[in-house]
Formats: sequence, structure tokens, C-alpha cells
Amino acid sequence: MPRVLSCIQPSGAVHLGNYLGALRNWVSGQDEADAFHGIVDLHALTSVQEPGVIGAQTVELAAVLFAVGLDPERATVFVQSHVPEHARLAWLMECTVSYGELSRMTQFKDKTAKGGTEFVPAGLFTYPALQAADILLYDTDQVPVGDDQRQHIEITRDIAVRFNQRYGEVFRLPEAVVPKAGARVMDLQEPSNKMSKSSSAESGIIYLMDAPSVITKKFKRAVTDSENEVRYDRAEKPGVSNLLDILAACTGGDPEALAGEFTQYGALKVAAAEAVVAMLEPIQSRYAELMEDRAELARLLGIGAGKAHAVASATYRRATEAIGFLPAG
Ligand code: AMP
Ligand code: TRP
Repeated sequence: MPRVLSCIQPSGAVHLGNYLGALRNWVSGQDEADAFHGIVDLHALTSVQEPGVIGAQTVELAAVLFAVGLDPERATVFVQSHVPEHARLAWLMECTVSYGELSRMTQFKDKTAKGGTEFVPAGLFTYPALQAADILLYDTDQVPVGDDQRQHIEITRDIAVRFNQRYGEVFRLPEAVVPKAGARVMDLQEPSNKMSKSSSAESGIIYLMDAPSVITKKFKRAVTDSENEVRYDRAEKPGVSNLLDILAACTGGDPEALAGEFTQYGALKVAAAEAVVAMLEPIQSRYAELMEDRAELARLLGIGAGKAHAVASATYRRATEAIGFLPAG
């Protein structure tokens, strides 16, 4: 079984796009790969500075991951800062990557392009070295990522090759793979844009933990078009097609076939809302249970930390032995 690593930052509430587009596949893929799922709180420190916030978001994200069905016995769900080798290997990676290579990362260039007075942490610049550590620590074969992260996987490979040339074969070379495509969920208010945490209006986003009444209201107000024909046509009718896609993704149906079952937008909105509410109901109740039982959450994360640490510490030791640091006496 290939070792597969996916990481997600604890930076804000999980929405329906995250679930239907990614998390649901993580759950269905747990038996097809030796899956590691990191909640990368050290990465979140590049954008969150208020005390306490990252920890609270980490707990919430962990509860979501277990609530949607990740099973700590089958998949390794862990928090990055619980495994100290991430930060330690990141330093070795920083000394293996060059300033020039890091300067060419488009994500860094984009994020700092505004050139304003905003505080730019050096960690935003060295971030790919930490990401390389995340990946290489687990002898990862495959990293499912979107296009925006491909360059970070390439630089990870370059770092691994250079390290192995300098010190001997320590790291396995990872490969970027295209994630199994889930549904693409669009913003309910601006259906030509992806549902995203940076969306302009809250009313366009369905959060996984939105109350049923809130979900119903958001669907009722979803933007459609001025015709009154229910037809699946992503280009011409993005709003209606998005509702059909969501309904199909929740019920396992086909959006084109579902279109034939509706004559009015109102009924389609109600059906989509009901399907989402029904799909989320067991997830929401499991989430609530876990958030009430912090000891259980800590236990589940402890299982992941233990499994992650066992692999990470062995890899880190290989790296330091290859470098030849003087062992502590
Ligand atoms: P993000 O938090 O935006 O980085 O997204 C995390 C993951 O959720 C990404 O890997 C995407 O695959 C998935 N995702 C985010 N937004 C959507 C969306 N609107 N539709 C489908 N998948 C999405
Ligand atoms: N940089 C990734 C992002 O912004 C998150 C990430 C951190 C990651 N470490 C990783 C992704 C390791 C894949 C593998 O989305």
C-alpha cells in the first residue's frame, strides 16, 4: 500500500466544498492507502497570531475529521506540533534549500506582492522547508495536492535529492498526485466562484456545522437565474447546476437526471437543503459528542501522535546520523 500524506491547516471552519471535494474522499480512501492526515498547526502560525486561537481551531478540525469518519485505527490523524520532529527536520531542510529556490516560490511571491506595511513573518518564506519536512518524515510515496501546491512538492523532491547526494540515501522521493476528484461546490451567492473561506458573503457558504435552519435559509436565498427552467448547464446556468450538483453529491444521483425531476427552482432548493441537512445530521451529532468529550478527542489524537511519532522519529534519526552530528554523551 502506498503511504499517502494529506495535510490541512487549522485555519477556519470547514465548509461543504471541503467535505464534498476532499474530506469525503479521505474517508473512502482509508483502506486503499496507508493514509497520514496532518493538522498542520505550525503552518497556521504564519497567519494566526492571537493566543489560543490555533489550539481552538485545531480541536475543532480534529473533531470534524473524526466526525466525518476518519478512523484512528485505520488512518493516522495527528497534530503537527505534537510530533517535534517536524520543526527539527525543518531546520535541516532550511540548510539544504537555497535562498534563491525559496525566492522563486509563487505562493510566497503572491502573498507578499502587495508590498504593504503588513508584517511578513520569515516563516512565510521558509514555509516550504517545513512542508518538505512534513512530507519526508513519513517516507511518503504520494501527496495529493491541487495545482497551487505542486511547486512545493517539486521543491521537496529537490531538497530530498540534494540531501541524499550530500549525506547518503536517507529520504524517499515523494510524488505529487491529483486528488481523487470529488464534487466541485460553488458559492451559493456567486455560483461562478468556488465556495471558499475567502468568499465575499457568509450566506454563500454552507459550513459543516451550520444549524439545519441556517442551511435551509442559505439554500432558499441561493442565486439562480431569471429563467424558470431546471436544466443542468454549468456555463449558462451556474446557480441551478450547482444546486443539482450538490443534491447529486449528497444523494449519489446524477445531476442531469435529477434536473428532470424538478420544474421549479423553489422545490430544487428545498430538496438540496434537505439532502445536505440529512447528510450532515450524523456528522453534526458526532461532532457535538466529541466536542463535549475532550478526553476522548485527546485520546484519539494521542493514537495518531503515537503512530506519527514512531515513523517520524526513525526518519529524523536517520537524517541526523547521516549528517554525523556528535551524539550527546
Ligand atoms: P482549502 O481549505 O481551501 O485549502 O481547501 C481544502 C481542500 O478542500 C482542498 O484540497 C480542496 O480539494 C477542497 N475544496 C475547497 N473548496 C472546495 C470547493 N468549493 N469545492 C470542492 N472542493 C473544495
Ligand atoms: N501548504 C499546504 C497548504 O497550504 C499545507 C501543507 C503543509 C501540506 N504541509 C503539507 C500539504 C504537506 C501537503 C503535504 O495547503
